[in-house]
Amino acid sequence: MNFRTITAAVFAAMLVPLVGLAQTPAPSAPAAAPKLYIPGLEQFMNVILIEHNKLWFAGAARNWPLADYELGEIKEVMGDVQDHVPVFKNLPLAQMLDAVITKEIVDLEKAIAAKDFKKFAAGYDALNKACNACHAGTENSFIVIKRPTTPAFTNQDYAPRKK
Ligand code: HEC
Repeated sequence: MNFRTITAAVFAAMLVPLVGLAQTPAPSAPAAAPKLYIPGLEQFMNVILIEHNKLWFAGAARNWPLADYELGEIKEVMGDVQDHVPVFKNLPLAQMLDAVITKEIVDLEKAIAAKDFKKFAAGYDALNKACNACHAGTENSFIVIKRPTTPAFTNQDYAPRKK
C-alpha cells in the first residue's frame, strides 16, 4: 500500500464539496485556497500498525518477499512522519525515530534477507520494544505494541507464491 495514494484519495474526497462552491462564486471575495491536509500522527501510526500486523503473518508464512515489502512500507510511512511531523509536542520526533528504531529495522531486514524465521521473530520482538520505547519517551507508555495473534484482515493471502 502506498501511503501517498491514500493521502491523494483523501485529498480528492475533500475537494468534492469545493466543486459545488466553485460554481457559485461570491463576486467580490475570491475563494480561499484549500487548506493543505496533513494527517495527525496517530493516523500514520495506525497505518504502521496494520503493516506491522501483516509483517508478522508474512514472516510466519515464510513469505519473505511480502515481509520485505511490508517492512519497506513501514519505513516509508516512518519517512513520511519525519517529513510531516518532525516535531510532536515539542519533542524531536524525526530524530527520535532515527535513534530509537533504525538498528532494529536493519536487523529485521537482514533476517528477512537470510530467510531466517528465528532471527525474524527475535527481530520483530526487538522492533516492538523500540516502538514501545518511543511511546514511553513521548508520554504514551499506555500504547503498547506486541506480536499479533490474528491477521487484521482475512482477505489477504500470506502463503508464498510458488514459482
Ligand atoms: C519516534 C517515536 C515513535 C516510534 C518509533 C513509534 N511510535 Fe507509535 N506513536 C508515537 C507517538 C508520539 C504516538 C501518539 C500519537 C498521538 O498522540 O497522536 C504514537 C501512537 C501510536 C499508536 C496509537 C494510535 C491510535 O490511534 O491508537 C499506535 C498503534 C502506534 N503508535 C504504533 C506504533 C508501532 C507499531 C511502532 C513501531 C513499528 C511505533 N508506533 C513506533 C511515537 C512513536
